[in-house]
Amino acid sequence: MSIAYYEQDRFFHLKNEHFSYCMRVDDHGHLWHLYYGAPIGLTGAEPLVNYQKHTSFWSVLPGEPNSIDTVPLEYPGSGTADLRPCALTTVDAGFDGVTDLRFDSYEILAGKPHIDGLPQVYLNEGEIAETLKITLKDSVKELYADLYYTLFGFSGALSRFTVIRNGGHSTVRLQKAMTATLSFGDKDFELIHLHGAWGREFELERTPLTKSVQTISSFRGSSSHTANPFAALVRPDTTEDSGEAYGMSIIYSSNFEIETETDTFDCVRVNIGINERGFEWTLNPGESFTTPEAIFVYSANGLTAMSQTYQKLYQNNLIRGYWRDRLRPVLLNSWEGVSFHFDGEKMRSMARASARMGVDLFVVDDGWFGLRDNDHCALGDWVPNEPKLGGTLGELVKYVNDLGMDFGLWFEPEMISEDSDLYRAHPGWAIKVPNRAASLGRHQMILDLTRADVREYIVSAVTGVLRSANIVYVKWDMNRNMSEIGSEQLPGERNGEFFHRYILGLYEVLERITTEFPHILFESCSGGGGRFDPGMAYYMPQNWTSDNTDAIARLHIQYGCSMVYPPSLMTCHVSKVPNGRTKRVVPFETRANVAMQGSFGYEFDPSLLTDEQIELIHEEIKEYKQYADLVLHGRFYRLVSPFTTDACAFETVAEDKSVAIATYVFTAGVAMTSRRRLRLKGLDADAVYTETHSGQTYSGSFLMNAGILLPAQRFDFDSVRYIFERRS
Ligand code: GLA
Repeated sequence: MSIAYYEQDRFFHLKNEHFSYCMRVDDHGHLWHLYYGAPIGLTGAEPLVNYQKHTSFWSVLPGEPNSIDTVPLEYPGSGTADLRPCALTTVDAGFDGVTDLRFDSYEILAGKPHIDGLPQVYLNEGEIAETLKITLKDSVKELYADLYYTLFGFSGALSRFTVIRNGGHSTVRLQKAMTATLSFGDKDFELIHLHGAWGREFELERTPLTKSVQTISSFRGSSSHTANPFAALVRPDTTEDSGEAYGMSIIYSSNFEIETETDTFDCVRVNIGINERGFEWTLNPGESFTTPEAIFVYSANGLTAMSQTYQKLYQNNLIRGYWRDRLRPVLLNSWEGVSFHFDGEKMRSMARASARMGVDLFVVDDGWFGLRDNDHCALGDWVPNEPKLGGTLGELVKYVNDLGMDFGLWFEPEMISEDSDLYRAHPGWAIKVPNRAASLGRHQMILDLTRADVREYIVSAVTGVLRSANIVYVKWDMNRNMSEIGSEQLPGERNGEFFHRYILGLYEVLERITTEFPHILFESCSGGGGRFDPGMAYYMPQNWTSDNTDAIARLHIQYGCSMVYPPSLMTCHVSKVPNGRTKRVVPFETRANVAMQGSFGYEFDPSLLTDEQIELIHEEIKEYKQYADLVLHGRFYRLVSPFTTDACAFETVAEDKSVAIATYVFTAGVAMTSRRRLRLKGLDADAVYTETHSGQTYSGSFLMNAGILLPAQRFDFDSVRYIFERRS
């Protein structure tokens, strides 16, 4: 790992065993991006310099030889002759809308600087990293952009964030302030991204880059179901195991934007960061603004290597705290079983059945507080409904504990129902625009987390409940998009700061609560995967992946999710059939095989199960637990894509290759097909493996090259799960 600066042609070369990243400063102070890709040996910029000589329509500053509209600028300002999408747009009180950034200085720092108030990748004890800080300056406004690049000694990822500083004497408004820009000298790429909807998250789409601007973004006040803050540029021939892939992931939970433009010369520029739509930030003299962090991963060997780099970094250096490396409890969540319709005895009967199943953690979802018997009311009133619970919350928790299980509880602390005591007391705490009606989402409004008093209320309401009983798990939900943005306390001209201030407010609340309760396992949720992003993972080591628990739909959702996120972050539950969302009937065994891809649990009314079913589940949980460490922390491989075939297969291999689990699911019945083979990955080619259920032995090379012969499909949505153990 090295960060080198060659004075002669002002050339920066960041290099490790995974990539080289090269930039240079030209004679006029423009910072050029020159190269990002497989490691190269190079000590000067010249061989990499390439730009189009300008013709009549490209504007040129007096004294400069060429138009910056043709230059791959590393962090482009705006209002200049560079008319492509930019990274930074600013305007001052005199309506000067030009941001002309020139090289000012650089510094090489040991380690990785801490980013105040935002989620971020961190270093563990003994891990090394090096950071390059390049400062660009607009001399007229005296505005500085500090570009941070961190290389890690233990990962092939590259971290980027930017700090904008106002060093001048007048106020400047930021209208766009991206984290980073990437440039490529050709357009021979395809764009992969993860779009979706409520109940259909992480749909993987791969399309050619077109000669236009393509934008992946959210404007929903959260990272959203509709788009995930991730994209990859890959070569057309890139597969899971070969070819170039450039991953881009933003550690942020609000409006984001990944904007690609293929320009006239077939060069590609990508801007990554906060969505410029609806964004403005006032920077008074002496103030600074820090963008969220972005993590880039270059892989020369396909998508699996890219994903594994993300999964490992996010597992070990983003997720924090007591639960990071621990096996997660197998839980039973009450929601799909009874929704709001329960009483104390119903919950106790569900708890008794859960205990017989062998569940570790019993979770009471929505409906336990205020007068919440439906989703029209009571959000904000975080007071246990004792008549409904058949006693105090503490008594219910004790009942569950006495059955040998831990207890967990659902909250939706950012929300407020119009029909709530909280709203009656503080109508001004809800987000709304004066003199306008506010749209309701799931019949609810959103609390204004830009306000300190609101944040204070949330912290004290949630921590009050957590202190009142032995609660070891919290599901933190958020069930609507944001609209009609307005805050009583934010001056009108600062309305453009709302979305970012909201998320900073949420991060502050989460930091306080998770610090006060370091042993509580927090699970993030937003109607499933509506805020499944690296930002939330910093505070909560689990995320409910989707409100769609149908196992066949989950194959797509979990496959897409695995592009970036580690298995431990992704929670997967077995639910009843026909599935509430899709009405599909998937065999019990397949539902479990699919859910065993991540943090595992159940979501139905267990008091309705027969003794035989309970016994089956008991065995299933035992099997999951035997390999839970491998599932949560092993190397994850996508073997067969449900997006392009009539099946899905995935595999997890232990770091030392001693054991592997492979799962294959048939998603459609096809007549007259020969039996299929499943080729495994990542095994020790020379070792002998025993498949534990059949006792059959195979060499690693056989399993990876010839592949195991799958059984013929027996029924709709049949599946098989193999465990291979290396013989010592
Ligand atoms: C959201 C969550 C569900 C459940 C309900 C409760 O939809 O995603 O899992 O908690 O809220 O209202």
